[in-house]
This record gives sequence, C-alpha cells and structure tokens, in this order.
Amino acid sequence: MKPSEFINLKYKPKSTDLICLFRIEPNKISLKQAAANIALESSIGTWTDVPETDYVKKLGAKVFSIKGRDVKIAYPSELFEKGNAPNILSSIAGNIFGMKAVKNLRLKDIKIPKEILNSFKGPKYGISGIRKMMKVKNRPLLGTIVKPKLGLKTKEHVKVAYDAWVNGIDITKDDENLSSQSFNKFEERLARTLEKANQAEQQTGEKKAYLINVTAETKEMMKRAQLAEDLGGKYIMIDIVTAGFSALQTLREADFKLAIHAHRAMHAAFTRNEKHGISMFVLADLARLIGVDQLHIGTAIGKLQGDVELVSELNDEIERKTVKETKNRLSQNWEKIKPVLSVSSGGLHPGHIPFLIKHLGKDLVMQFGGGLHGHKNGTGAGARAVRQSLNATLEKIPLKEYAKTHSELRIALEQWGGIKF
Ligand code: 3PG
Ligand code: 3PG
Ligand code: MG
Repeated sequence: MKPSEFINLKYKPKSTDLICLFRIEPNKISLKQAAANIALESSIGTWTDVPETDYVKKLGAKVFSIKGRDVKIAYPSELFEKGNAPNILSSIAGNIFGMKAVKNLRLKDIKIPKEILNSFKGPKYGISGIRKMMKVKNRPLLGTIVKPKLGLKTKEHVKVAYDAWVNGIDITKDDENLSSQSFNKFEERLARTLEKANQAEQQTGEKKAYLINVTAETKEMMKRAQLAEDLGGKYIMIDIVTAGFSALQTLREADFKLAIHAHRAMHAAFTRNEKHGISMFVLADLARLIGVDQLHIGTAIGKLQGDVELVSELNDEIERKTVKETKNRLSQNWEKIKPVLSVSSGGLHPGHIPFLIKHLGKDLVMQFGGGLHGHKNGTGAGARAVRQSLNATLEKIPLKEYAKTHSELRIALEQWGGIKF
C-alpha cells in the first residue's frame, strides 16, 4: 500500500477499532504525509512497498481525522494479540516515536474497544474493594512513605511505620527505590513491619496496611509477592514503569489476594514533554487494563510536575485540570473492569488537604512523606497533624481555626504553610 492509502478522512471508525489521538509535528514534509507514515509504521507498513495480500491490506491503520496537528488513527483490533499489553504498545507506541518523518510525536489519548478490554483482568479490588478492605467508607485514605527514602535500617524503618499508623495514618508504603538493599532486606522488613501493622490495628481499632515494594526481576518479584501474601499482607506495591508492563501483568495474573499499588516513577520521561511521548491518560488506561488497584496521578500542588496537555506554558490551572482528568479517567465506564483508586503523592503536607479534597474529592489516597516525617516533633506528631487536617476539612472547619486547639497541626502549618499564629 502507498502511504496515501493509509488516509481516509471519510472513514467511520468501527466499534471494534482501537483509536489513537496523536499530536504530530512533521519533519520537513506535510502533516498528511507524516500522518500516513505514522499509520503505516504502527500497523502493517514499512519504508518501501512490499508484496501484500488482501488480508494484510485490510489490517492497515486509517487516518480518519486531521485537526490542526491532532490526528486520529483507527486500528483494526485484529492487529493486536488480546491480553498482551506490550504487544499493543509495540504497534501504537513503538517505532513511530523515532521516525525521521516527525520532529515530535505525542500519543495524547487512546480508546480501547470492548473486545480488547475484556481480554484483560483489570483491578481485583478497585475503589470499592479497597474501601471495604480498609473499612474506610466516606473519607480519603491517609498514607505515608517511609522517609528518609533510603538508608534506614530495618528496625528504624519499622519504627517509622508504626509511629505513623498509631497516630492516624492508614497505609504506610516503601519509597519507589527501596527494594532489598543490604541495610534493609525485603524479607525481614516485611515480617517485622507487618507485625507492627497488626499491633497498630489492635491498638487503634482501625485497619492498617503496609505497601511493600516488590519491584525486582520478575521471578524474584513473584517470590516477594507470594511472601507478602503468606505473611498476611493486604497490599503490594510495584513501580509499574521501571518494572514494565509485562512484569505488572505477571503479577496481576497470579491473582494474589493482595491489592496492587502502582507507583509511576520514570513516567515523566515520556509524559512530561507535551509535544512528544505518551500522555498520562494512556499510562492510566494501561495500568487499569492490566489491573492495578491504585495509581499515582500527581497532586497539582506538590513537588512534581503534573502531565500538562495542550499548552506549552506551564500553568497551575491546566495542571490541576489534568490531574483531575486523570482521576476521572480511572473511573470511566469500562463495564466489568473496576475503577482504580487515585493516589496523590509528592511534596504534600497537612496544609494541602483542603485543596486536595476540593479538587479531587474523597475517593483518593493522600500520601505524605517529607510533609509528615519532617514535622518538628517527629513522625508521630506529623501523622497527627495530617489526621487533624483531614478531620477539620471533613468537618468544614478552616485549618487555621482547628489548629488553635490542635498543636501538631498548628506546628505543621507554621512549618510548611507559612501561617503565623
Ligand atoms: C515521589 O516518589 O516522590 C512521588 O510520589 C512521585 O509521585 P507521582 O509520580 O505521583 O508524582
Ligand atoms: C512517594 O513515593 O509517594 C513519595 O516519596 C512522596 O514523598 P514526599 O511526600 O516526601 O514528596
Ligand atoms: Mg517517592
């Protein structure tokens, strides 16, 4: 097929087609030519004509809409092996990013047809399953990341986790780059931290979860997850981008009783530049499809850049909108496939809670690392400040007011919120 045959602006996509929205910046050719090149390389074509059967031709992707630089391409679903996420990406997000035909290429959005959706498991628990497991009905879940992120010995790590739990935190997680370093081995950390989770549950009457990071070579990762299940854990955590989609799928297919918390470290290598790479929406869809129960979506207020679409100038409002849209996205109607719980994490402190609830609602995990353990009076006080801020927000009492009678919150607001009392 000639490149021009991959363009058909009259084509009406079928319900079985997978549709991608790309932003294309052509390189010394017309936008139409670049779009044709993208469609051919991401489906059946190559740089020159090769003999093609009628069946091969039928599988050619079709550019069916061009608006400015935004180009929509429909892919017949027979192009993809069902239940194989890397395979789908190797077509629609593969060679095309390096083609000379484009200066920049952004996979902005994706629509996955039902038959592909139904070939994946999706989340085991999702929002309602997690709420049930944690026995938390109407409020956001409060989480913490043990800090310092690396270097604590196991005993110290366990103490930090325990202090956070008994002072009001629901879930404690490892940081993305903690696995089984010599100073804090996985097995011992798991056993000891879970013991303390149980103790904290008894003391507080609340459910307490430990999200241990199982990210490792796949077989080792599976052993670690199995151990977490054997020792009665509720959750595991995985760095979905660095571990890879195949590893994530292996973990999900094993169908452990554990909920899966997905950290997205490295996502910004491809989500951050709005002209090139892959958007957070696409990553969120893939993570949900394969079956994570909760996923980091950004904060729109903390230390990290959100995924900014459509604008070249960074703008708080747009960032807020994108984080919010990612959250909505994780609940789009996919029939049997459950919605994913959103996680906001990165640079948060107790003063941010009203903002987070206002913009992102209550179906949310809010995680505090530095903004909890860095409290002048330590982890316990930091955890209390976080819980106090949540209580105040839920009771619709301004934090400044509530802080007059809650000293941990007062100190946190002085320390990070620039508020003077
Ligand atoms: C961190 O590790 O500091 C952050 O949690 C990263 O979170 P994000 O990818 O959700 O922004
Ligand atoms: C995470 O992995 O979620 C983070 O490490 C958040 O850490 P911070 O609250 O100190 O930014
Ligand atoms: Mg981190």
